[in-house]
Amino acid sequence: MSSTENAIPIEAWNTVLFDKFCRFRNVLTHGLSDHSAKFFKRSSYPAGSRILDVGCGFGDTTQEIAKQVGPSGAAVGVDCAQNFIAIAKREAREAQFANASFLLADVQADDLSGPYDHVFSRFGTMFFNLPGAALRNIRRALKPDGKFAMIVWRRREDNPWVYEAERIVKEIMPMISHAETTEVHCGPGPFSMAGQEMVSEMLRGAGFDRISFERCDTDVCIGRVLDEAVEFALALGPAGEIIRLAGEEGQRRRPEAVAALRELFAKNLRHDGVWFGSSSWFVEARNPAH
Ligand SMILES: C[S@@+](CC[C@H](N)C(=O)[O-])C[C@H]1O[C@@H](n2cnc3c(N)ncnc32)[C@H](O)[C@@H]1O
Repeated sequence: MSSTENAIPIEAWNTVLFDKFCRFRNVLTHGLSDHSAKFFKRSSYPAGSRILDVGCGFGDTTQEIAKQVGPSGAAVGVDCAQNFIAIAKREAREAQFANASFLLADVQADDLSGPYDHVFSRFGTMFFNLPGAALRNIRRALKPDGKFAMIVWRRREDNPWVYEAERIVKEIMPMISHAETTEVHCGPGPFSMAGQEMVSEMLRGAGFDRISFERCDTDVCIGRVLDEAVEFALALGPAGEIIRLAGEEGQRRRPEAVAALRELFAKNLRHDGVWFGSSSWFVEARNPAH
């Protein structure tokens, strides 16, 4: 990999964030995969096609795409974090997907081994430091007329599964920005692609046309029991990030934050876990046929 621009987020994805994604994989895969399940229900990839899965993480969507394109097609997962790629490779091999492969690369800087018929991403595009460069690189990896589809979070206010916890923690401790800390972080936050106008402009600037947005709302389970939901909120998402970046003060006031989160989540506890609403965009764009 050639990128130094992106060294801090890549380190975060390979260390703190990787550890957290492993710890809460159950919540993430069962909860958040509903968004991609809904996307694939309405549009699956044709047999024989070659598809790139951007920011593939553990590679479960890469495996799903490999199933859709069949043995004559290919699903390629790309991620900047070696640790995710290692698990994705192993699990695809264990599941006997001979047509799934994985590439360690920074999407905003490295060659993506195109051309691809189409490019997909589930929540893998919101963390680029240089989104314009990344989107251009993605378009260049597409065949003419190829489609790029990304699932991204809509605005935080429409995502109470993280927003409610963030709101409560912000009332308890100071908000330290990434610029003020030497702690590693994930780069621009999960809501960086929420604005339709801004995302359309970025996609057009990267050379895409036929840009469309479709809203997807679904409830997500953030923990099977109250304690798991509290741990999840503290470890991942904006609430946990506020505490981590607040350093010593964050640790000192952590018990207060835990009590407030327990009270909040108890209101949303059902027989099968703690549930909140979530909302994403299915954004689609085309690499013009010239
Ligand atoms: C929120 S996770 C989503 C993972 C997976 N797509 C899913 O839905 O479970 C974001 C992923 O994007 C990857 N990522 C972030 N910035 C990247 C970049 N510049 N190039 C490649 N991958 C990147 C991270 O390592 C991480 O695996």
